[in-house]
Amino acid sequence: MATSRTSAATPSGDTILVIGAGGQLGLELTHELRQIYGASNVVAADVRAPKDAETAEAGPFELLDVLDKNRLEEVIRQYKPKQVYHLAALLSATAEKNPKFGWQLNMDGLFHVLDAAVDLGVQQVYWPSSIAVFGPDTPRQHTPQLTIMNPNTVYGISKLAGEQWCEWYFRKHGLDVRSLRYPGLIGYKSLPGGGTTDYAVDIYHKAVAGQAYECFLSEDTYLPMMYMSDALKATLDLMHAPADNIKVRSSYNLGAMSFSPQEITASIQRHYPEFQVSYQPDQRQQIADSWPASIDDTKARQDWGWQPQFTLDKMTDDMLLHLRQAVAVGVH
Ligand code: SER
Repeated sequence: MATSRTSAATPSGDTILVIGAGGQLGLELTHELRQIYGASNVVAADVRAPKDAETAEAGPFELLDVLDKNRLEEVIRQYKPKQVYHLAALLSATAEKNPKFGWQLNMDGLFHVLDAAVDLGVQQVYWPSSIAVFGPDTPRQHTPQLTIMNPNTVYGISKLAGEQWCEWYFRKHGLDVRSLRYPGLIGYKSLPGGGTTDYAVDIYHKAVAGQAYECFLSEDTYLPMMYMSDALKATLDLMHAPADNIKVRSSYNLGAMSFSPQEITASIQRHYPEFQVSYQPDQRQQIADSWPASIDDTKARQDWGWQPQFTLDKMTDDMLLHLRQAVAVGVH
């Protein structure tokens, strides 16, 4: 069913543009923003057209390759967004396979958005960073906001460079650009693509389908993770915080939980005791081994009141409930 196109306006009376609206985070964030600000005020843009008619009809959509700067400016001139959420990127595993393209998309895409925001008067930009900005030299437990970085993936290098550029645009141009270092994101509405943390979504789908799961990370690989509703809350809390509260203009550490494949399996087995998981680590293991196991997000808690809601078991209960419902209505 299409969402209303005539709901309340954004606080400023202007629109919001979401670039990469078809991705794992973009789908959910677009939906959430449309709930808050009204469908017609939130423009979804992606390099691919929406897959289903429902999404296509839910609000304005523009085909946009963020590498096409003229087209980006055309969309911004047309809708005059006050806020741009720029989410289009290649994730860690895919960028390792396509390093030059990963670098080009992740960096040029960001420059195009930052420059267009400055030139065309966009007031706020949101851009996601990642735990991938850390590397093998970084302290792995409770990784601090400021520490040794030295990322060793294309994705991580691009995110760390991007963070520094965001800070530079804030300093030089006064652009109100805000960013979070997301951990692995887990949700039931959308699938990740090409990331190292994707297993933690795939595993739930297999459990609900009654199938065994072959995990591409070893059973004791701890990574920072977060349920999608917490990620949406963090993003909106950050964007709604008074500008003076935002003391970090590169990107904030953001934590919620940390678990291993073995622990998520045990959490799922509370509902599906027969669920079986085997382990076949591939090249993504090396990426995971270079990342933190857990995150110290004190700065986010202090500056704008970050507080996650979901633990591993609470997330599992909610994921399984919704995925089962999706199976029951035949959309799984
Ligand atoms: N989830 C991302 C990845 O695995 C990390 O930001 O690539």
